Amino acid sequence: MITRYANINDTIEILRMDEKVIHSSSRSGYLSEMIDHHRCLVAEQNASISGFLTFDTNFFGYWFISLVIVDPAYRQKGIATALIKHLEKLCPTSKLFTSTNQSNLPMHNLCDRLGYLKTGIIENLDEGDPEIIYFKRLADENEEIITFYG
Ligand SMILES: CC(C)(COP(=O)(O)OP(=O)(O)OC[C@H]1O[C@@H](n2cnc3c(N)ncnc32)[C@H](O)[C@@H]1OP(=O)(O)O)[C@@H](O)C(=O)NCCC(=O)NCCS
Repeated sequence: MITRYANINDTIEILRMDEKVIHSSSRSGYLSEMIDHHRCLVAEQNASISGFLTFDTNFFGYWFISLVIVDPAYRQKGIATALIKHLEKLCPTSKLFTSTNQSNLPMHNLCDRLGYLKTGIIENLDEGDPEIIYFKRLADENEEIITFYG
């Protein structure tokens, strides 16, 4: 298995996988934009995509993992771990953020296992299922940025 930036040729496979997981194509525009803007990593196995990750680069000035999706057939084989570890190496800031619904036990376990700490909660996104924010302090060589808070 390798992890790498997604390119335009991966779009159909990524959109198909997302639709299979959330039973909707509502994120297709967002995902296409992330691929175009080099904000998407994929895990590739036997010439097909087994998982992907998208990230934003300006979450209060920090990078933020917005989605991690692994094909159900390939889960619990370390694919999400490999994608996140790859992003941690690319991330230029000293902190990396992510989030998940309170109900998402696999993602909470994944965050704990990779050393992410709970740092906040956002109510009123999904009704009755708050979004839990996590962050990880990365190695010293990841350069600190000058932040500007509102
Ligand atoms: C969450 C998700 C990305 C994990 O991907 P994965 O490739 O299976 O994760 P990994 O194999 O790297 O697992 C690493 C750790 O995560 C935790 N974990 C993963 N799947 C789990 C499950 N079904 N139940 C409990 N813990 C789980 C475990 O701690 C695991 O370590 P272990 O294998 O030593 O027990 C995957 O289940 C998925 O795509 N879910 C649907 C989409 C989603 O909810 N994404 C997260 C929010 S965007």
